[in-house]
Amino acid sequence: MKKKVTVIGAGNVGATTAQRLAEKDLCDVVLIDIVEGVPQGKALDLTEAAPIEKHDSHIIGTNTYDDSANSDIVIITAGIPRKPGMSRDDLISTNAGIMKNVTEQVTKLSPDSILIIVSNPLDAMCQVAYEASGFPQNRVVGMAGVLDSARFRAFIAMELNVSVENTHAFVLGGHGDTMVPLPRYSTVAGIPITELMSQDRIDALVERTRKGGAEIVGLLTTSAYYAPASAAVEMAEAILKDKKKILPCAAYLQGEYGFNELFIGVPVKLGANGVEEIIEITLADDEKAALQKSADAVQELKTVLKNLDQ
Ligand code: APR
Repeated sequence: MKKKVTVIGAGNVGATTAQRLAEKDLCDVVLIDIVEGVPQGKALDLTEAAPIEKHDSHIIGTNTYDDSANSDIVIITAGIPRKPGMSRDDLISTNAGIMKNVTEQVTKLSPDSILIIVSNPLDAMCQVAYEASGFPQNRVVGMAGVLDSARFRAFIAMELNVSVENTHAFVLGGHGDTMVPLPRYSTVAGIPITELMSQDRIDALVERTRKGGAEIVGLLTTSAYYAPASAAVEMAEAILKDKKKILPCAAYLQGEYGFNELFIGVPVKLGANGVEEIIEITLADDEKAALQKSADAVQELKTVLKNLDQ
C-alpha cells in the first residue's frame, strides 16, 4: 500500500512540498489549508501535471482533516511567514496558536504518524507540537538544519566552483541568527573546508548562511520556499524509505549535548521510527559556547511560549 503524507498549510512551502513529494512518487499526499478552494485548486493542478511528470501519487486538497486519517507522516507548514524586517521570533504568538490547533486536530486521526515541523520560529513550534500531540520524542522532528546546511553547501560550492554534490555541511543549534555552522565538519569530497578556504572567506560564508533566510525575505518580501520544501522532503524520504540517514534536525534533547527538555538542531538518524538516534559529535570549546548561546535563545522562546499560555 502507498504511504500517505499530510501537508498542512497549502501556501508557498506546503504546496511546494506537496509537489516535490508527488514528483518523487514517494507517497499519496493530502494537502490541508483553512482557506477554501486553495488546497483543492493546488491539488487538482498538481494532479493534472502528473501525466507529464510521470507519477501516480494521488493528491487531495481539503479544508477538513478526514482524508488525512492514518497518515504515516504529517508535515506542518501552517502559519504566517516573515515580512522584511521581521525575525522568525516575531511570528511566535500567531504561529503557536495555529500549531497547537492543527497538531491537536491532525494527531487525533493519525495517532501513529511522525510529525515534521516547518513553521517558524522552528524550535519553539516543535515544542508546541510535541506538547499538543503527546507523541514520544522520536516522532516529533523539526526541519531547519537540513535547510541551513543546504544553504551553506550551496555557498561553499559557489565559492570553490565545485559540484554541490561534493559538499557536506553541518549546521547545528536553533534556527535563528544564533545557529552554529560547523566549518570543521563541513567538507568538499571529504576535505574539511578549513583546508580549502581562508578563515575570512569561511567567516563570510558562515555569516551568509546565518542570514540566509533574511536574504531571501529581503528579495522576495516573503520567506523562502523552494529550499525549505526540498529540506522537508529529504527528511520525509529518509523516514518513508527507512534510510537511517544522518541529517541535522531539531530534536528533543534529554541530556544530549548537555541540554534538557529542549528542541534544538543536532545530527540525528532518521528512519522509519523517526528520530532513531541523536548523534553526539565532539565539539571544540568555541563551538560548544556557540551552541550554548543558541540554546539560550531557544530557551528564551520557550519562556515566551509559557507566558502565552497564561
Ligand atoms: N490550518 C491550516 N492552514 C493554515 C492555518 C490553519 N489553522 N493557518 C494558516 N494556514 C495556512 C495559510 O492559509 C497559508 O495558506 O498556512 C499557509 C501558509 O502559507 P504562506 O503564507 O505561503 O507561508 P509559507 O511561506 O508557506 O510559510 C509557512 O513555514 O517556513 C515557514 O516561516 C515560514 O512559518 C512560516 C511557514
